[in-house]
Amino acid sequence: MRQVLASFDNCPDPRLRELVAALVRHLHEFALEESLTEAEWLAAIRFLTDVGHITTDRRQEFILLSDTLGLSMLVDLIHHGSGGGATESTVLGPFYVEGSPWRSNGDAITDDLGAQPLLVSGHVRDTAGLPLPGATVDVWQNATNRLYAVQDGAQTPENLRGRFRTDADGAFAFRTVRPVDYPIPDDGPVGRMLHATGRHPWRPAHIHFIISAEGYVPVTTHVFDSESPYLDSDAVFGVKQSLVRKFVAHDPAADSAPAGIQGSWHTVDIDIVLQLEAPALLS
Ligand code: BEZ
Ligand code: FE
Repeated sequence: MRQVLASFDNCPDPRLRELVAALVRHLHEFALEESLTEAEWLAAIRFLTDVGHITTDRRQEFILLSDTLGLSMLVDLIHHGSGGGATESTVLGPFYVEGSPWRSNGDAITDDLGAQPLLVSGHVRDTAGLPLPGATVDVWQNATNRLYAVQDGAQTPENLRGRFRTDADGAFAFRTVRPVDYPIPDDGPVGRMLHATGRHPWRPAHIHFIISAEGYVPVTTHVFDSESPYLDSDAVFGVKQSLVRKFVAHDPAADSAPAGIQGSWHTVDIDIVLQLEAPALLS
């Protein structure tokens, strides 16, 4: 191993030198510790080759691999540890599409509220609790058939996504359908890995958010449905307890239905807290 490590001694970029050296060290230690056989090494090479072959602009199997091995969440934790009272972050996932339509507070993000309407409301605040007007709330989620619009030719590309701006009180609101649990794409090598290792591909129902405001650190996060049976076994390890919310059930027999809602519905209220960006260092 010493000879391999020494081969990077002239690497002009010190961080790259440090990273490749650490990677070599850990890889060699792994092979030695496990007495890796040639057949196992070749199987791993074939697996990574398959991960590369299935990856396209629309399907990033390497990120899915990183997600399912917990590496994505580890990198997230290293750089966005909970601290300072800001809302915790979690994985972006592969279904984010930039440039969602701007919508007005109270609008629906889908034309079909279906049988499970959900009314989402919330505020964006700073760590002192002061409202942040004009913050951007970018949201996306899956449909009741488990699919995101980008995965499903039957949905309009704008279905179940949208951008909102908080009002003078830092408030935002939208109508949607209750998101459902869904399996991550498991028809490729990552799915084979999950199957071979006795794991399932399911994620607990959630709504994705990216919240940003001028002068504050943006946060990429989810709100998870507390009733999902997959909260303790998310295939990509994205659940943080602080992101789990109760979706409160309402019945027209007991509560007066909001305009346009027929039958029962759910509501969820979400407070998002953003941290001030570190001031630029004076040079
Ligand atoms: C998602 O929540 O959209 C997602 C995240 C990681 C992997 C697959 C899907
Ligand atoms: Fe998702």
